[in-house]
Amino acid sequence: MLILGIETSCDETSVAIVRNGREIVSNVIFSQDKLHRPFGGVVPEIACRAHLESIIGIIHCAITEAEVKCTDIDAIAVVNSPGLIGSLLIGVTAAKTLSMAFNIPLIAVHHLHAHIYANNLEHDAIPYPAVSLVVSGGHTTLFLSERETQHVVLGETIDDAAGEAFDKVAKILGLGYPGGSVIDQLAKQGNRKAIPFPRAYLGKDSLDFSFSGLKTAVLYHVKGQDQNRSQTSLKNTMDIADISASFQEAVIDVLVHKTVAASKIHHARSILIGGGVAANSRLREKFQEISREIRLPVYCPSRELCTDNAAMVAGLAYWKYSEGNISDLRMEANPS
Ligand code: KG4
Ligand code: ZN
Repeated sequence: MLILGIETSCDETSVAIVRNGREIVSNVIFSQDKLHRPFGGVVPEIACRAHLESIIGIIHCAITEAEVKCTDIDAIAVVNSPGLIGSLLIGVTAAKTLSMAFNIPLIAVHHLHAHIYANNLEHDAIPYPAVSLVVSGGHTTLFLSERETQHVVLGETIDDAAGEAFDKVAKILGLGYPGGSVIDQLAKQGNRKAIPFPRAYLGKDSLDFSFSGLKTAVLYHVKGQDQNRSQTSLKNTMDIADISASFQEAVIDVLVHKTVAASKIHHARSILIGGGVAANSRLREKFQEISREIRLPVYCPSRELCTDNAAMVAGLAYWKYSEGNISDLRMEANPS
């Protein structure tokens, strides 16, 4: 079964074709990073317009790359929630149009569930129940996953998402947007123990997260060091690598601690990681270390499948279709 998936929930326009929920036949991703960089974050109106301009070309590209005909496609899948409403609407409208034009089923996919499913694209027979951690620019959420399509929220961020914290700290350090991967690279040359930034555990049993205090601590640290210096001298005089490494370690310590705690509470048989921040080298390294320590398999998608892509959408849709979970033209985009 060939499913064409569409992802436009934030600032990536992506269309993929996946066979039987596993084989990625094509996965075209157009990143809008360059368009949003001058503003230091995603501008919803710009994102929506850029999706509109590119979506037809990207659909065409995905079909051409897959070397299939439109009539070979058996179903259309689209992320309809959560995300930016204007962005979601472009994908949902395109999906409805294709579904109607070719008279094939339409499948609604939850963006965060798709991030978790990215693991199933590359790994066979993942043991369930699993505890799944989605760490992205907009979300930091822990789930109990009973199977590919069944996820219950265990905890989430009460303020900034982990990726948002990376992006805001990168901005404080003058590293540009998006900053996650830049901090990841710089941290490799820094000392993780240089600055004891706070870790917010929010009480013994909490599975929620909070990163805004950490971000503020970095800001005060930088301001303290920068009192008598100009912004331009900041880069040269401060040890940005140490700040990056210490900040990154504080985020990862909390993510790992809570995920492991959740896996113990819920007797998980595996841990699944997903979302843009799952591309982080230190996070991947630390989860592998902990996997050996607690003797539980930890799965993490390859880096290209951590960030937003439509292959994870088309893949998950196969299981939803198999379970008869099919939508129709009344499907709505839901930002929350
Ligand atoms: O999942 P994603 O592509 O989009 C959302 O659904 O938000 O995640 C994007 C986020 C951004 O905040 C970006 O800075 C972060 O993922 N990110 C990273 C890395 N690569 C991307 N954060 C830390 N380390 C990385 N290597
Ligand atoms: Zn995402």
